Amino acid sequence: MQTRMLGPGFGAEVLGVGLADVVDSDAARDAVREAFDAYSVLLFRGQQVTDELQAAFSRRFGPLETGKVASLGEGTPFSILTNVDRATGALVAPDHKESLRARANQLWHTDSSYKREPAVASVLSARVIPPAGGETEFASQRLAWDRLPAEVRERLHDAFAWHSYSHSRDQIAPHLASAREREAMPPVCWRIRWRNPANGRDSLYIASHTSAIEGLAPAEGTRLLAELMDHITAEGHTWLHRWQPGDVVMWDNRSTLHRGRPWPATDHARLMVRTTITATAADGVDALRPLRH
Ligand code: OGA
Ligand code: MN
Repeated sequence: MQTRMLGPGFGAEVLGVGLADVVDSDAARDAVREAFDAYSVLLFRGQQVTDELQAAFSRRFGPLETGKVASLGEGTPFSILTNVDRATGALVAPDHKESLRARANQLWHTDSSYKREPAVASVLSARVIPPAGGETEFASQRLAWDRLPAEVRERLHDAFAWHSYSHSRDQIAPHLASAREREAMPPVCWRIRWRNPANGRDSLYIASHTSAIEGLAPAEGTRLLAELMDHITAEGHTWLHRWQPGDVVMWDNRSTLHRGRPWPATDHARLMVRTTITATAADGVDALRPLRH
């Protein structure tokens, strides 16, 4: 297996090993896991992706989330992101729930930080790619941590922040998060710094889902979160992935942010399938939990 650097200090293409190799071989799995810990975002090109292969590949890195409440794919290991109505085959209108969800995915975020069991990794495959737009953009929360002034790192070392699904959805439309979703996913509090036990590297851990910093007045917390978000995603520090057929991208939800980019969604279909791997003790999740409560 070889890797080829793609982004500014993070992100790499994996060469010589594909999804099927990882399913079949522990050595291939271990090599990919090492590259994942090192580069945070991995691109596999030219894959013969099926739902089964994607799930089997993903399971090699830990337990899979089952589709969240009320999302397409609920109760399965697949999160389906699409603007195609499955019943009619037509493209959905801009005010359709899936269009609003796509807009929420266009906010910088990391997956599942609002869950009681956050995610270590996501695996995303492009099944239908629009002719323009629809890229996925990444930023490194790990490199952002390293470039913070030392006094800010010190201040944030033991800081905690609140995350909730409704906080990111409310930025798009007031009813996008349903009463059932709000109830199923109440706010959770995590350390604002996630250390990867495999290499000791610290990372910021915030997202569009992050609503407040524990112990700060709301306005002060909002201002600090906005400053951190600008710092993480500053020009020159992001990497835009333009999807090609057969592409699969795996990213580290502990150490990156991502966002979907818009496309002419009333004219062109886009269909993406995601599997999401729940973080375990080996991924450093226990250190995230608040010291009290
Ligand atoms: C996701 C996501 C962005 C995109 O699948 O978690 O945010 O480009 N996707 O579809
Ligand atoms: Mn996402």
